Amino acid sequence: MAAHAPSGTNIQPWHVIVVTGAKKEALSRELIETALDPARDAEHSQEYAYYPEKWIHPYIERRRKVGYDLYGLLGIPKGDRANMLRQFARNYAFFGAPVGLFFTIDRIMGQGSWLDYGMFLENVMLAARARGLDTCAQAAFIKYHRIVARHLEIPSHQQLVCGMSLGYEDQGKIENSLRTEREPATTFTRFVG
Ligand SMILES: Cc1cc2nc3c(=O)[nH]c(=O)nc-3n(C[C@H](O)[C@H](O)[C@H](O)COP(=O)(O)O)c2cc1C
Repeated sequence: MAAHAPSGTNIQPWHVIVVTGAKKEALSRELIETALDPARDAEHSQEYAYYPEKWIHPYIERRRKVGYDLYGLLGIPKGDRANMLRQFARNYAFFGAPVGLFFTIDRIMGQGSWLDYGMFLENVMLAARARGLDTCAQAAFIKYHRIVARHLEIPSHQQLVCGMSLGYEDQGKIENSLRTEREPATTFTRFVG
């Protein structure tokens, strides 16, 4: 389904790794240990900048709001770094989902192929929803791309775009009641002519 996404001149730049079972557990274990250990964590850095280096209005406010709302729901007060980190590290356990997806792209590809990739990712997420499944796209893996590449044997000519958890939403978890907001179209659209 997702492969029906359009891509410039139909080059279909996506590569997907689906990981489950013991392989997924081993990857999770190393990622969690690394994320929770400042010395090991310091050995890793993002392979590409998902976010800007310097935040500006209005993006910084939106980013802060989702953070406040999430940690507010979880009862983690501002400045409680230990619990924030523990919560963040749940990314690396795929939030308890049974399936992990990893998306890679050939390094030679240009920015246009990353546009195509976004469409492919959204299709994966929508196709999952259509089948009663839920997903969480995860840029959190980008920092530990070397660990992910070692476990999943990603060839060096490919780079990690992001990961994704796939499973069923646990409606008993308070964080899943978080509803994000969107700006009305008139705030980001100009009609000319
Ligand atoms: C490419 C991409 C990467 C993301 N990375 C993460 C992540 O690493 N961890 C996480 O919990 N959520 C991640 N998210 C989820 C976003 O934070 C979430 O989609 C956004 O706050 C909007 O909320 P909504 O999906 O409920 O509308 C990511 C979303 C996208 C599209």
